Amino acid sequence: MRSIKSIKNIEGKNVLIRVDFNLPIKDGKVEDDFRIKKALPTLEFLQKKGAKLILITHLGKGGDTLLPVAKVLNKYIKVKFVEEIIGQEVRDIVSNMKNSEVVLLQNLRNDRGEQECNEIFAMNLAKLADIYVNEAFPVSHRADASIVLLPKLLPSYAGLQLFEEVKNLSRAFKKPKHPFLFILGGAKFSTKMPLIKKYLKLADQVFIGGALANDFLKAKGYSVGESLVDETNYGIAKILKNKPARGGGKLILPVDVVVKSQDKLITKKVTEVGKDENILDIGDETVENLTQLIKKSKFILWNGPLGKYEDGGEKSTKEVLKLVAASKAESIIGGGDTVALISEIKMEKKFSFISTGGGATLEFLSSGTLPGIKALE
Ligand code: 3PG
Repeated sequence: MRSIKSIKNIEGKNVLIRVDFNLPIKDGKVEDDFRIKKALPTLEFLQKKGAKLILITHLGKGGDTLLPVAKVLNKYIKVKFVEEIIGQEVRDIVSNMKNSEVVLLQNLRNDRGEQECNEIFAMNLAKLADIYVNEAFPVSHRADASIVLLPKLLPSYAGLQLFEEVKNLSRAFKKPKHPFLFILGGAKFSTKMPLIKKYLKLADQVFIGGALANDFLKAKGYSVGESLVDETNYGIAKILKNKPARGGGKLILPVDVVVKSQDKLITKKVTEVGKDENILDIGDETVENLTQLIKKSKFILWNGPLGKYEDGGEKSTKEVLKLVAASKAESIIGGGDTVALISEIKMEKKFSFISTGGGATLEFLSSGTLPGIKALE
């Protein structure tokens, strides 16, 4: 990948920048602008060099307006929002742009061409610019038009944050420091299973929390009551039976959990969950076990909350985040819900690296690259 720092003669050039401002929005208001903040160094770098910046992003699955995003972006950088993606109006506005001006085009997914990876759609976007920049790590696992086709149509470069993502996340599979603790929570078993298998070989301990742990506890023959489980057979029983390979990691599961029983929160041993109970979080004894592991670790990789935080099960995640933040270990935190909790406790600066990605981070950690990264090479 070539960095934007290597672009020659940027002044006056039209630069089409694929960002990922797919931000959480509630009642028309942006709830978290972490991804905007992380894209700013790239935008400011190009702006200072006198380029004309044309920003493109998706939001949701399509059908939504980027207006709330444009409002938040305007707090950091002066931007003109255009309510079209392609067409005459866009061409007119772009051809009248002055150096260092910034425009944001409408939600890419409002045109089916984006997700259908349509070449004509990509060509219409490419016509607006001289240069393409990918500063959209969180969506670089999607083979969408703006991610994989635009780099074929224009000289293409990687944004500063995209570089940081690749550099930092790669530490997990390229000679990480040891002891290496991998903490994995959240749900979405299908995307996380390849990670568990891979990191049982690379890490010293793999701790499983969140809804993922329910499947493991169930496979051990314990009742998980009415808790969320994934019924697909992912071969968990085999993983549980396997002794760690020489040099391979050990699987660590919760020993106690917090359950919701008739609207009360009670801590129970994992062997004692009743059939009408719902597991919300890991218990204190498990947090204590994790604390000991964190203290010994030199490298910690974390993805996904340890409890069902949206239903009040956020206590352990916040506690353990604080422990990781205070530890001397190098800490890499992977995206999505965990990041929202980090913003809530205002600890963004306490970790070695926080990824802007959700699904993309998981895919990168498991396969070592992404379609959008390959397209830039
Ligand atoms: C994300 O938020 O994970 C990215 O923007 C990708 O969004 P998607 O899962 O809708 O493709």
